[in-house]
Amino acid sequence: MEMDGLERKAKASGASQLVIKDLKEEFVRDFIFPCLRAGAVYERKYLLGTSMARPVIAKAMVEVAKEVGADAVSHGCTGKGNDQVRFELTFFALNPELKVVAPWREWDIQGREDAIEYAKKHNVPVSVSKRSIYSRDRNLWHLSHEGDILEDPTNEPKKEMYMLTVDPEDAPNQPEYVEIGIASGMPVSINGNDLSPASLLSVLNEIGGRHGIGRMDMVENRLVGMKSRGVYETPGGTILYAAVQELESLTLDRETMQVKDMLALKYAELVYAGRWFDPLRDSMDAFMEKVTESTTGSVTLKLYKGSVTVASRKSPNSLYREEISSFETGRIYNQADATGFIRLYGLPTRVRAMLQRSI
Ligand code: ARG
Ligand code: SIN
Repeated sequence: MEMDGLERKAKASGASQLVIKDLKEEFVRDFIFPCLRAGAVYERKYLLGTSMARPVIAKAMVEVAKEVGADAVSHGCTGKGNDQVRFELTFFALNPELKVVAPWREWDIQGREDAIEYAKKHNVPVSVSKRSIYSRDRNLWHLSHEGDILEDPTNEPKKEMYMLTVDPEDAPNQPEYVEIGIASGMPVSINGNDLSPASLLSVLNEIGGRHGIGRMDMVENRLVGMKSRGVYETPGGTILYAAVQELESLTLDRETMQVKDMLALKYAELVYAGRWFDPLRDSMDAFMEKVTESTTGSVTLKLYKGSVTVASRKSPNSLYREEISSFETGRIYNQADATGFIRLYGLPTRVRAMLQRSI
């Protein structure tokens, strides 16, 4: 268990008290699901698993600081990454008076080896050894791997590195179908069973994990300017993104979808950069809530050896009409109307071509 030995570690580190809070439901409901509804993806690939976890943790830290009357908070992020920014922007937003202590930036810790050495010297138990020196971050949404052999982007990740997903090559030879129920852009059920946000996600992580779903390897641009290489496992999340986006194909018209996708890019950038508590993110969520009001229904996905394919989608608010779109019939849509539509829609095209030919 990840929580084993925490009390001892805290006390050995000089803490007078250890406070553990279960933020799982809040995390999924108020942080993960809004990103999912927005369709936020950073740099074409990253489902923001670490980015969205920092504000919920930092928010709880500010609350505990208030409860115990502390005037400072601390974090263990390096001075080279995104996480320091995410924690500190949340501290700033929720209590600008708190002092921030960041040992990696203030003491003589230059790297992870130094940090392990320091812990050893002061009898603080740590679980990483010098042999496995991946920097990992795990929560209900994802697990990230950075560092070690991954620092050379030409190195393929080792099979043993992965922790949440089986190798797609070893996944079952039988595909599995899973039906995701969605209400106004937020997932509510799996195979017809209503579940709380956190339980829904853990069930899907199980299902996705055994089919090798949601592995992703990328080189990304960190906020502090450098590029970094990371490998992510997001089994349940990958299924949910596929489901929600698919349902929007029934419920959103072309221009609405375009505007939503444009904003999703900005939304992802804000979340990545730790600006969760900016009024801009909040305002974009007001838009996202409104625009996905009718995104209700269900999507059935087929999971097979690392791939997610859509098998079926349905919504009571679907804008798709078989009697209009069908190749077979036509009552509402009159094909003769298309002639005039194309002539006018293509008028600028005709004018340009006429000009080139001096007609
Ligand atoms: N590069 C990812 C991000 O910035 C993952 C960071 C993982 N953090 C960590 N402390 N290991 O969101
Ligand atoms: C860290 O530097 O503490 C982890 C990586 C990151 O924050 O980007």
